[in-house]
Amino acid sequence: MRPVMSLASAFALALAAGTPLPAQAEPDSSTVTATSPDGSLVLTVTTDSSSRPVYSLVRKGKLLIGASKLGFTLTDGLNMVRGFRITGSETASAATTWEQPWGERRFVRDHHNEVLVRFQQNADYAGRRMNVRFRLFDNGFGFRYELPEQPGLKTMKIADEWTEFDVAGVGTAFWVAGLEWNREEQVYQRTPIDGVATAQTPITMRLEDGTHLAFHEAALVDYSAMYLKRAERQLFRTTLAPSSRGSAVIRDLPFNTPWRTIRIADSAAGLVENDLELNLNEPNKIGDVSWFKPMKYIGVWWGMIRGDWTWAEGPRHGATTERAKQYIDFAAKNGFGGLLVEGWDKGWNGDWFGHGQDFSFTEAVPDFDLKAVAAYAAKKQVQLIGHNETGGNIANYEAQLEPAMKLYQSLGMHSVKTGYVADAGGIMAPGDKPGEVRMEWHEGQRTVQHHLKVVETAAKYQVAIDAHEPVKDTGLRRTYPNWIDREGARGMEYNAWGQFANGPDHEPTLVYTRMLSGPMDFTPGMLSLEGANHVPLASTLAKQLGLYLAIYSPIQMASDFIESLAAHPKELEFIRQVPADWSESHLIAGEVGDYAIFARKDRNSADWYVGGVNDATARDLTLSMDFLDPGKTYTASVWKDGEGATYETDARHRIAYATVTLKKGDKLPIWLAPGGGAAIRLHPGK
Ligand code: NOJ
Ligand code: CA
Repeated sequence: MRPVMSLASAFALALAAGTPLPAQAEPDSSTVTATSPDGSLVLTVTTDSSSRPVYSLVRKGKLLIGASKLGFTLTDGLNMVRGFRITGSETASAATTWEQPWGERRFVRDHHNEVLVRFQQNADYAGRRMNVRFRLFDNGFGFRYELPEQPGLKTMKIADEWTEFDVAGVGTAFWVAGLEWNREEQVYQRTPIDGVATAQTPITMRLEDGTHLAFHEAALVDYSAMYLKRAERQLFRTTLAPSSRGSAVIRDLPFNTPWRTIRIADSAAGLVENDLELNLNEPNKIGDVSWFKPMKYIGVWWGMIRGDWTWAEGPRHGATTERAKQYIDFAAKNGFGGLLVEGWDKGWNGDWFGHGQDFSFTEAVPDFDLKAVAAYAAKKQVQLIGHNETGGNIANYEAQLEPAMKLYQSLGMHSVKTGYVADAGGIMAPGDKPGEVRMEWHEGQRTVQHHLKVVETAAKYQVAIDAHEPVKDTGLRRTYPNWIDREGARGMEYNAWGQFANGPDHEPTLVYTRMLSGPMDFTPGMLSLEGANHVPLASTLAKQLGLYLAIYSPIQMASDFIESLAAHPKELEFIRQVPADWSESHLIAGEVGDYAIFARKDRNSADWYVGGVNDATARDLTLSMDFLDPGKTYTASVWKDGEGATYETDARHRIAYATVTLKKGDKLPIWLAPGGGAAIRLHPGK
């Protein structure tokens, strides 16, 4: 161990402080630096005075992440935190463009520089080796640990990961608590950065100098999810989801951890229009997914969420053959591609929460004729969307996965919504002996393995997965493009539950937090604007349409009862038209937690769509039509908040319609009501 601060550490600290180095101070071989392609980000990797690996990040000459440590504690041996030296490094770079089968944009640019730094512990710590691969993009940064094969360390039993992020600038954080009983379905908190406790990721920060940051992870495979725990001041470190095995993660070497990521931008738009985590995932491993078509869907759903119908059998059973056929007729008539039916299967009778062992994923209840409904749907060119609520019992689900997916394929079903309703630590996984059950976490290593098993099995049978109460999204849709979306935050369902309803700033916060991780099955389109017992939503009618542009998913629900959708023909017309697949997406106006207006171009036509959501503060915006294709004149059909509209009174139903002509470069003034929104379709020509 080094008794005094090394030259390398002095160099890192000097750089970190933004101080120019004295001319004679050459970096020694134990300091590695790298820059992003445009030079704006400068990474320094070294070891500190206690021989602990540290990195720091400077942006545009200013410290962004101060010297932050790297390492692991183990449950069965010496920790990998001290006694390290750098033994070598290798650099690489890439500038490529790849195509998504579906998404917010068709082409994704991957332009980065990378450096792999090799660390080794001294003999006191058994000479263990640990490599860290850093990638620098102009708008983000990621690194992962790579544990090479080595003598004396066949299996790594990780107690916790000690990756730090020492955030240099003060500012505001937008976050939900990690490791809490209700997983991610919480109200977002807006606090000073030094007011964060343990946060789920993505956690978003806006610094006082205007820099926007979002901390997350990419490619969470066979590992436990990480949370960010504030240690002191603005110093955060990773902590991993627990496991019933005592060690948070158990892996045989060689293996790589997920990437630890930071999106970095000068504006809210730079945070949103950012493909950092997708770029850090592996390319498509399952091949052609053209059998999955982005679509809009309706569901036999809201009736159960509100409590009018039941999932269980009985006089108020929602999933009857008759109702499913009625919904299929409505879907066919109004251009919806899918119908979700929940409560179709055996296992819902009794207290299904905590009784996941009762669910069957192949047997329908007597008043739901699965084959007949699927055939009726096919005849009407509507797809039945399957529903697999597991109650968190993944042992029961895994045992039925193959026959279930096979059955759905045979019925022409190409998507399934899964569900893991259980409290934190309430996932029931198979144990080592028959009949033994182990309690796991929604984001622990075993559940992470489970989700991939579901997605891989589903892919074999051409089924796409929409997971509720899921593990967080870390960009795996690039590798498994049948993992189409997830829930993973408070969705529309909370609006049915009175005192738990979402506030007006919920959706404009989601856009800049949860949505940075990937598509969400938020289930917009609650045109009645009311939940159970007529409790109103904190939303105007126009905001319900704006949600289709603000909250991206390749399957978008119109979640209200069909009677309510039919009672709003003009709004239904927008929902019919709005695509669920885009060739381009841009945030054209917005601030974190306040409002978000997107411009998105249809993947299958020359149409553009503009719209989004507002918080409780009314705003006058002037939208620049700079994104439009040159040389074209567009007819814009506008759905906007009516005069005097506000989420606070019955005036929430006030909506106004307009038709205007627009071309590239024009300005469009628009007023957003408190709790309001807007939706615009721009069609070239008349
Ligand atoms: C919670 C899900 O979020 C909701 O959409 C679903 O209807 C219920 N669980 C039952 O599976
Ligand atoms: Ca849920």
